[in-house]
Amino acid sequence: MALMDQIKAKARDDKKRICLPEGTEERTIKAAEIISKEGIADVILLGNEDEIKRLSKGLDYTNVEIIDPEKDERLESYAKEFYELRKKKGMTEDRAIEAMKNTLYFAVMMIKQGEADGMVAGAINTTGNTLRPALQIIKTAPGISVVSSSFIMEVDKKEYGTDGIMIFADCAVNINPDAKQLAAIAVSSAETAKTLAGLDPKIAMLSFSTKGSAQHELVEKVIKATDIVKEIAPGLSVDGELQADAALVDKVGKLKSPGSTVAGEANVLIFPDLQAGNIGYKLVQRLAGAEAIGPICQGLAMPVNDLSRGCDIDDIVSVVAITAVQAQNLKK
Ligand code: ACO
Repeated sequence: MALMDQIKAKARDDKKRICLPEGTEERTIKAAEIISKEGIADVILLGNEDEIKRLSKGLDYTNVEIIDPEKDERLESYAKEFYELRKKKGMTEDRAIEAMKNTLYFAVMMIKQGEADGMVAGAINTTGNTLRPALQIIKTAPGISVVSSSFIMEVDKKEYGTDGIMIFADCAVNINPDAKQLAAIAVSSAETAKTLAGLDPKIAMLSFSTKGSAQHELVEKVIKATDIVKEIAPGLSVDGELQADAALVDKVGKLKSPGSTVAGEANVLIFPDLQAGNIGYKLVQRLAGAEAIGPICQGLAMPVNDLSRGCDIDDIVSVVAITAVQAQNLKK
């Protein structure tokens, strides 16, 4: 079974309540019907109720809940809680009410209150607008210092990663992580590798140098991050600094990092910054024809995922399934 089908099957096993706050967006409206019909999640569409009803005419919405924050009785209590959370940052009571009328903020507050299990948005909102409410309200999971993102990459060449499956991170959120943040990205990516891709994580901390072949402050950062991972997550298999070929190709790995349990067998690739990560995943997707599942947001205390604005209906369905499985794992 393809990996995405396995994730959808897992989502069906223990259905979660997932908010879609872009409830009046055309692709989202259609995705909600599919998610509900296929039993992947219980969907909550947020937005103007009349407009959602008009746009979804003719669709089977029997199991889709519609919430209009402006009419919802929770608006004031949510705003109060948001004000309390953010008053030290200059939030006012009036601005908190306005924020809660925004479906993205309302959805995140529903998750915080335990009334929903996750959120998917980004079909019409930027990454910043989609993630900011979660960064402000839900915050990071215990022990994790940064929220980051990863892609599950699947290539035809089964000799790479584990049967052609790898995790790439961070490809979408942290622009220039320091060593501590890079270590947190590695730990979160290992969790994503286990829970979503079913991998036994072998983490390569990537650089343009392998084991001292070059000296530079950028290399030093990766070496330091590798040491921090070993310290904070001693049970994880990690090696660095490694070049991409030493991480992925058995022969090169053995030559450049002898005795390593990761070199040549890595299935979690941690890029040193967002330029490398974002360029790297797009090159592999386009030039090697890899399937790129993501960006998957990791490290939040509750799952929220950001779609690409170019997403299609199937992408929304897939990201909802991923979010539901993340929610299942958080509850464990
Ligand atoms: N982890 C944890 N908390 C964070 C993080 C993070 N990675 N980033 C910001 N925060 C927190 C801040 O501490 C702050 O909290 P506070 O208000 O309680 O003090 C809050 O979130 C807002 O912080 P800002 O610095 O204002 O962050 P902003 O909301 O502007 O940006 C964002 C966050 C959007 C994730 C930013 O890091 C960013 O723009 N990243 C790059 C996104 C991008 O362009 N990606 C490439 C395209 S995506 C693709 O190709 C798939």
